[in-house]
Amino acid sequence: MNKWQSIRLKLAGGTFLLLLITVCSLIVLMNGQMERAFHDFLQLHHSAAPMQDTAEMMFLHSVHQSLWWVGLFFIALGLVASYLLSTSITKPLRRLTEAAKEIGQGNFNQQLPASAHDEVGQLTQVFNQMAEDLSRNEKSRREFFAGIAHELRTPLAILQGNLENISSGITPPEPEIIFSMQEEVMRLSRLVTDLRDLSLAEIRELKLHREPTDFGQLVLQLGQFMQPLFDETGQKLLLDVADNLPIVSVDQDRMRQVIGNLLANASRYSGPGSTVQLRIQQKDHSLCMEIQDNGPGIPPEDMPHIFEQFYRGEKSRNRKNGGSGIGLALARHYIEIHGGTIKAENLPVGGVRFVILIDC
Ligand SMILES: Nc1ncnc2c1ncn2[C@@H]1O[C@H](COP(=O)(O)OP(=O)(O)OP(=O)(O)O)[C@@H](O)[C@H]1O
Ligand SMILES: [Mg+2]
Repeated sequence: MNKWQSIRLKLAGGTFLLLLITVCSLIVLMNGQMERAFHDFLQLHHSAAPMQDTAEMMFLHSVHQSLWWVGLFFIALGLVASYLLSTSITKPLRRLTEAAKEIGQGNFNQQLPASAHDEVGQLTQVFNQMAEDLSRNEKSRREFFAGIAHELRTPLAILQGNLENISSGITPPEPEIIFSMQEEVMRLSRLVTDLRDLSLAEIRELKLHREPTDFGQLVLQLGQFMQPLFDETGQKLLLDVADNLPIVSVDQDRMRQVIGNLLANASRYSGPGSTVQLRIQQKDHSLCMEIQDNGPGIPPEDMPHIFEQFYRGEKSRNRKNGGSGIGLALARHYIEIHGGTIKAENLPVGGVRFVILIDC
């Protein structure tokens, strides 16, 4: 930027010029006025003699001079004041420019002091908020990619190891090995689909195919489909669906995914022999679905994070039973896109209850 175009120079220069013109005009006017008044005074008191180079003239001259000095003093004072004023306005603007440049280079951690309550202070506050949001987004973007890399690494390593062993003849291509490889491929393909949906949901681009749905019927069918999962571990699944539930307009596949994940979680994390209950009823103008188990519950330190992508509790990190930590993040997005809410709470008697409310 050309330094003559700086706001500081424009403000200081403009104020100074205005002051200069005002003070000079005032002094010229005052001088003329005073000379005339003094002349009249002399004429009145000392006959009609014209003003000579006398003591009166010298007095008048010294008053003129004093006026100019006073004027000069005020002009200098104005110059300093306008410089200080313009600097106080432009200093935060220059700091904002520097911080914006840093953000442009990817250094999002920029927070500026916003002590003043004027327009520049407001601008600084908005800037700080924007920098904080960008920094948070960047952090979650990095975590997202780190999570993807982490989740892809293990199944790919297993597939690569098995394929190398088979191709070099170390391991014969036995059905169990092929089956375990197939499981890893299915796991990968589910992960990729979940990741695509998650990224679309995050930018609110996920399209819903809503249709009028008998939610109770949907849940009963899903419960039947998932029953073998509970039978395998000696768990009990109790479904309690109220009669005459209203028809709601939802995306059935997404809802099956949400309830499926909640039921799978309840089965997976509550331990063998536990009981899982699913209850649906109408509450005021909402459809209320509760899924609760009598397992160990969610540790309080995990509770605030369970709806974050890739978050899973320590005990769920086991590869055989543990998932990717995407299920609840997706569930939250799906429910929120439907205009509903989902929350989790530990029960005093042990276990967790997930509550979903959807307007009907
Ligand atoms: N009913 C539950 N009891 C105890 N912990 C739970 C329960 N439901 C969820 N959690 C905790 O919340 C974490 C996040 O669950 P989420 O469904 O998002 O991921 P996941 O089940 O680990 O993987 P994914 O669903 O992607 O296969 C789980 O890893 C687990 O630690
Ligand atoms: Mg899950």
